[in-house]
Amino acid sequence: MRIAPALVVLVACGSDGAPDGPSSPVGPMPAYEQRTGDAANGRRALIEEGYVGCGVPLSAYRKVFEPAPESLRLAGRTGVNAEMPYNMTAFRTAAGIEVVTPNCLQCHAETIAGKLVIGLGNHTADYTNDVGALAEAVGGLVEGEAERAEWSRWRDRIVAIAPYTITATQGVNSADNLAAVLFAHRDRETLAWSDTPLMELPPDIVVPVDVPPWWHMQKKHAMFYVGAGRGDHARIMMTASTLCVDTVDEARAIDAYFPDVRAYLMSIQPPAWPYAVDAALAATGRGIFEQTCARCHGTYGDLEEYPNLIVAVDEVGTDGTMALGAGQFADRYLEWFNESFFGELAFLSPAPGYVAPPLDGVWATAPYLHNGSVPTLRALLDSSLRATYFTRSFDTDDYDTSAVGWRTTKLATGQSEPPRGVRASSIYDTTVRGYSNAGHTYGDALSAGERDALLEYLKTL
Ligand code: HEC
Ligand code: HEC
Repeated sequence: MRIAPALVVLVACGSDGAPDGPSSPVGPMPAYEQRTGDAANGRRALIEEGYVGCGVPLSAYRKVFEPAPESLRLAGRTGVNAEMPYNMTAFRTAAGIEVVTPNCLQCHAETIAGKLVIGLGNHTADYTNDVGALAEAVGGLVEGEAERAEWSRWRDRIVAIAPYTITATQGVNSADNLAAVLFAHRDRETLAWSDTPLMELPPDIVVPVDVPPWWHMQKKHAMFYVGAGRGDHARIMMTASTLCVDTVDEARAIDAYFPDVRAYLMSIQPPAWPYAVDAALAATGRGIFEQTCARCHGTYGDLEEYPNLIVAVDEVGTDGTMALGAGQFADRYLEWFNESFFGELAFLSPAPGYVAPPLDGVWATAPYLHNGSVPTLRALLDSSLRATYFTRSFDTDDYDTSAVGWRTTKLATGQSEPPRGVRASSIYDTTVRGYSNAGHTYGDALSAGERDALLEYLKTL
């Protein structure tokens, strides 16, 4: 069954650089029917199954890594996985070799207020280095012909993606480009891997993305910041398998349990603000929120409503690089996806704007905006506080409860002239393409007192 992309309009490429492929309008997003699944089996599959398809042979991994400390293990894992850290999975490949690979939690789990939160976006990982050389070096640890064959399959993929996934600064993610490169190396009909790309690779801009929390999907009708992920979400979620799953049959076997993975994702609740709240101030803030913010972000509490709205990039004014078709949202990748196995049940159809996200658990999701350019809620509500150049703390114990977000140090210069002793890639430089912290100025017209009240209310969501 191929889903008819109803409501998808073809937008002609205008002088503003808008994409000319399948594209959705801004405004409300329609809902799509989802396959149901079993959340308990989904949790198991998420941390035990081999949906990534390849990895480093376990024997080589063990030469470098000790069993994970208790604090990094997940309850209920069995066999070798019982001793793996939460974000790694050991499994047996199609060729029968035991390998270890990062799982979804590499990007979709993070520590906040001293607790590991499954589903919270990883906002500390460092993608500023080329990992190709590292993948190559691992080969020195691998013994035996079958194991070497398995390692080289993994190495080839990592070497292919490495140059296209280097971000300018630590803390942002390059998954959007990663998907684009993997699509480019795969035959759309058979999913077979080709060492030479079959279509043009992504443009030289690596789109920086702040990983969104999974619980947004309880309310969002479409996946991704630009509302591109339409149709069956489980089928879209399993694009993580495009790293090494090389046949449609294998992909279909993974797809069979992904409705369960989705059911587990949908069961995850955002963490509650663990510190004190001034209830009277928050009540005042609620009124301000409902007047100033709710038309886009919805209402919370007893009578919840969520409008599922995509706001045109010109209107919200945040960095337009992603919304205007960079990374995986360039036309050729949309077409690849929509005509492939993935397109049987789902389709990618981005809008030239950004989804106004649900704000449940928003205290925990700093930094803010799709590119993570605004480190605190206080700065999100008052654009005069946003620094052009800054470094931010990557110590998850260093959370700023007053500004609600991550502590930063303002700098006078950016990546082209880093201050003495400061590594260029540790600087968030908002003048780099894709990294702007402009826009979303809806809090600027409020008084300082109103902003304080609003901030107090946001802690309670
Ligand atoms: C390399 C990092 C990475 C890995 C691995 C990864 N994701 Fe993501 N994921 C992202 C990023 C970044 C986004 C946001 C992309 C965007 O909106 O353009 C995202 C978005 C999502 C969303 C949509 C959230 C929303 O609010 O729109 C879901 C659901 C999701 N991922 C599930 C998964 C699952 C399930 C897996 C494993 C099968 C997985 N992801 C693996 C980085 C990753
Ligand atoms: C016209 C619609 C609109 C209004 C009004 C609006 N927002 Fe937003 N908001 C958005 C959009 C769109 C985004 C995503 C922008 C992006 O990622 O580039 C966003 C993002 C956010 C984020 C970042 C969420 C995250 O996890 O990164 C927060 C927090 C937020 N808004 C709070 C507010 C508050 C508080 C108000 C009221 C003062 C408000 N917004 C008013 C549309 C709106």
